[in-house]
Amino acid sequence: MGVEIRVEGLTKRFGSQQIWNDVTLTLPAGEISVMLGPSGTGKSVFLKTLVGLLKPDAGSIWIQDRDLTRLREHDLYEVRKLFGVLFQDGALFGSMNLYDNVAFPLREHTKKSESQVRDIVMEKMELVGLQGAELKLPGEISGGMRKRAGLARALVLDPQILLIDEPDSGLDPVRTAFINQLFIDLNAQIEATFLIVTHDINTARTVPDNIGMLYHRHLAMFGPREMLLSSEEPVVRQFLNAQRIGPIGMSEEKDADELAAESGQELPPLPPIPLQLGTSDGRARNTARPAGQWCRDNGVTPPPGSFLSGNAGVPGVSQVEERV
Ligand SMILES: Nc1ncnc2c1ncn2[C@@H]1O[C@H](COP(=O)(O)OP(=O)(O)O)[C@@H](O)[C@H]1O
Ligand SMILES: [Mg+2]
Repeated sequence: MGVEIRVEGLTKRFGSQQIWNDVTLTLPAGEISVMLGPSGTGKSVFLKTLVGLLKPDAGSIWIQDRDLTRLREHDLYEVRKLFGVLFQDGALFGSMNLYDNVAFPLREHTKKSESQVRDIVMEKMELVGLQGAELKLPGEISGGMRKRAGLARALVLDPQILLIDEPDSGLDPVRTAFINQLFIDLNAQIEATFLIVTHDINTARTVPDNIGMLYHRHLAMFGPREMLLSSEEPVVRQFLNAQRIGPIGMSEEKDADELAAESGQELPPLPPIPLQLGTSDGRARNTARPAGQWCRDNGVTPPPGSFLSGNAGVPGVSQVEERV
């Protein structure tokens, strides 16, 4: 059962460049959260800071009553064992076959025998749908398979927290749908806390329990999926609905003239909130909430047509049924 991560007032600069300021959020144990944001807003830096690869300039990261930002190297090393990380490029060793890539953390960090290593590697390869590809080199397989191999490697130490950086970058929509389904199924099975960084809107709309959005050097919003998908907040609304009208411009923020030119333009209505993607075998995820619950609990009327089966962004996969 995954662990909670509580981030308080986290701030990161590189020299005089402020990346983000005063980020406060809680990743609930066992839930899937997605972090969105335009390119260059520091999403990858955020993941690297969470695992302790980068030091923040201020703030805390609480995991199991320990503040990661204040740990000595030895204790940090221990806490890092809770994490599995899939970096953006998969970060596989090009000269090693997939088997050796996935076995690497086990050989490096544990004293397991080669036969124990073999059992674990084969189990994780199967979990990500790569059985039979053990002897392939990373250069011989598709981008989607490389992501799966990176995921298998992130899983071998049985992480409590899984951090995944842009799993869908460079993948076509079909491969993206498959990897999204894999995240839902994996989460149901290993019950770790997931944080997925992406700028794929379909992923953000259908996969997570929670959505966060980094924009303009701060956390614009973080909360349950239904809260952000029903939000009228301009930045959140523009990004989650891929609209040109709104504060986000081509390079960064729009200037006053650009915004003035837009004033008076009617925003299209919010689209229906899709059902959250369900597991492929139909079993319930422990942390999944009934469709529409957040809206009901908070007196928010969801856009018309929300939570109907058939409007989940990814067709042909089982969906969480509405339980009223
Ligand atoms: N190690 C580093 N040293 C200096 N600047 C960095 C470093 N890593 C990232 N940056 C800068 O931080 C900003 C955010 O980068 P990044 O987290 O990769 O953005 P995103 O993942 O949201 O596209 C960029 O301007 C990048 O150049
Ligand atoms: Mg990045």
